[in-house]
Amino acid sequence: MANARGRLMIEGAAATALARRFGTPLYVYSQAALRGRWEALRQAFQAPGFLLCYAIKANSNPAICRLLARWGTGAEVVSGGELLLALHSGFKPSQIVFSGVGKTREEMRAGLRAGILTFNVESEEELALLSRTAKALGRRAPVSIRVNPAIAVASHPHIATARAGSKFGVSPREALRLALKAAKSPGLRFLGLHGHLGSQIFAAAPYERESRLLISLSRELKARGVAITIADFGGGFGAEEPGRREFPLDRVSSVLRRAARAFPGLTTIIEPGRYLTAEAGTLLTTLLYRKTVLGRRLLIVDAGMNDFLRPALYGARHEIIPANPRPGPRTPADVVGPVCESTDVFGRGRRLPPVKPGDVLAVLNAGAYGFSMGSNYNSRPRPAEVLVDGRDIRLIRPREALSELLDWRRCKSP
Ligand code: LLP
Repeated sequence: MANARGRLMIEGAAATALARRFGTPLYVYSQAALRGRWEALRQAFQAPGFLLCYAIKANSNPAICRLLARWGTGAEVVSGGELLLALHSGFKPSQIVFSGVGKTREEMRAGLRAGILTFNVESEEELALLSRTAKALGRRAPVSIRVNPAIAVASHPHIATARAGSKFGVSPREALRLALKAAKSPGLRFLGLHGHLGSQIFAAAPYERESRLLISLSRELKARGVAITIADFGGGFGAEEPGRREFPLDRVSSVLRRAARAFPGLTTIIEPGRYLTAEAGTLLTTLLYRKTVLGRRLLIVDAGMNDFLRPALYGARHEIIPANPRPGPRTPADVVGPVCESTDVFGRGRRLPPVKPGDVLAVLNAGAYGFSMGSNYNSRPRPAEVLVDGRDIRLIRPREALSELLDWRRCKSP
């Protein structure tokens, strides 16, 4: 990413020039990096019946979604809002899967009307409501059952969604029962099984165990006269984090391709979010002030946890570098934001070269669960987003204006 003089470049654009032109905090995405990740997945999973459904929650900028849709990707959505976004971005309804433990009747109706590929259903009561909703519309709802595979993965507990006892999915036993029930229900069209192991996974073994579980469940169903046509393995493919290895894409794809061969004619789905967008995104922020507190050197920047929540919420490590490094010794510093919370810290004890107020710092690998998890906490407007494609620079979301944030007309006084 850096050029010969150590200046941070995002494709053909100097990070400092982008910061000057659009202001900070600023999310910048590289289209080439996004395309690179997409190509890697496409090549690894090039086999008949494979469908890549991008988990929109990772980065829901409409321009990013439109690119992925144009390249022929499907989508995984978890709300009516994400469904609308997916449809507006050009994802084909027949390639959209709808997950989530708490779908409302309105969300079900929207998915049914759009003609999505399948609903990943997570409880018996949800199954019943989906059936009633479909019947009321004179349709049959396509259904997969989300299984909680009870496989612990080595990631932060907040993002390990498949532990026994988690709120997601149902137990393998219950999945069998619900699948048989769905197969007999007139309002439903039973299609298959869904699993999702969690996020930021760096090993192939959990996928191996998940695939063995889905295969054995589908064999049990077959023995009872019910065939599955969709096996959805979820997402979770890890993206770079300092001190972690690379995600073993080839090993995971060979595990899942082998599983797919167990069912000829099957649609095999993967739902990566982070893997596609994380490394394509950089958060640029300007150093406001320096101070020393009890020997601890603080660098106070203009981006906060409301703009990028991952370090505060998960203790996630993201590399931080000056966009235009100055010569001199590296000294440890804590990079902190302006939000009134002591967890508003982007990095502790980071060894950085000399920096001065006005310098631009870059938080790397911020393209997934960055802007999409942002908020207006402390009444801070959301940052702008820019997409760089070679020398082409496009503002893909303008910075939120204070007037939008403080829209008094929408909040009537009592
Ligand atoms: N499929 C389902 C059903 C999911 O719940 C998720 C993510 C994905 C796919 C995509 O997972 P990915 O490939 O991006 O790991 N905010 C957290 C991550 C939460 C992920 C929630 N579900 C973070 O910043 O690490």
